[in-house]
Amino acid sequence: MTRIVYVNGEYVPEDEARVSVFDRGFLFADGVYEVTSVLGGKLIDFDGHATRLARSLAELEMENPVTAEELLGIHRELVTRNGIEEGLVYLQITRGAADRDFAYPEGAQPTIVLFTQSKPGLAAPTKAEAGIKVISIEDQRWGRRDIKTVQLLYPSMGKMAAKAAGADDAWMVEDGAVTEGTSNNAYIVKGNTIITRHLSNDILHGITRAAVLRFAQEAQMKVEVRAFSIDEAQAADEAFITSASTFVMPVVSIDGAQIGGGSPGPIALRLREIYLEESLKAAV
Ligand code: PDD
Repeated sequence: MTRIVYVNGEYVPEDEARVSVFDRGFLFADGVYEVTSVLGGKLIDFDGHATRLARSLAELEMENPVTAEELLGIHRELVTRNGIEEGLVYLQITRGAADRDFAYPEGAQPTIVLFTQSKPGLAAPTKAEAGIKVISIEDQRWGRRDIKTVQLLYPSMGKMAAKAAGADDAWMVEDGAVTEGTSNNAYIVKGNTIITRHLSNDILHGITRAAVLRFAQEAQMKVEVRAFSIDEAQAADEAFITSASTFVMPVVSIDGAQIGGGSPGPIALRLREIYLEESLKAAV
């Protein structure tokens, strides 16, 4: 079955989809994106992703070519047309095509592209039961990490460094404190307190993070929103990450030091269970 993608108002087979070589997403990484997961054929946390998209666009003075309602319609149509049961929908909006110039062009039409990725077993317990290993790297990204831009080269380098070290991912460190994972938010658990970095321009304001912290508070778990170091993380009882594509994923080793004896911790696993259950109930 050929995948159907969405480009600027049209649903087309992927090999017929076209974007200009002058597109500013291609030339300047002048674009933003969102990733929404699909479970049971439904969209998880859609409203949160649509709201953050509008914020990212506004921060870059970029026009939003679609309303949240239209966006939901496009997401659903792609999920249906491509028969996605488990997977994700990727969305990208760029400032559009214009002759190459650093200054924002006047009157360019934004480019909007969406495609699906089928990932059977996305929420399967196997990966979470094993947990993931992370290494730490210096955070060398720009200073507006709160905007979800397509400028992802440094996170790619981080994933490659992790792979080379026999790990699954990297946590980035700035001024002695962990900012976040290459494509996820980072947490540790000490006793029964969940610790995660405060929101600022230094990290992406994760949609999964917001939901997980809300569920944690509703379940009377203690949450401390503050920065932590790699040393503190290595001495923690548990560690985990959150993102739209991993939900809640336990971390079992950091720079080779085992966390919680090298097995996923009970708080991380419980949060994963609650998150999957509650977000599936609210899926659209
Ligand atoms: N990444 N931090 C960074 C740097 C991210 O790229 C992401 C998401 C997150 C988690 O945000 P959310 O919970 O809203 O997915 C945190 C997506 C999944 C990606 O790039 O594939």
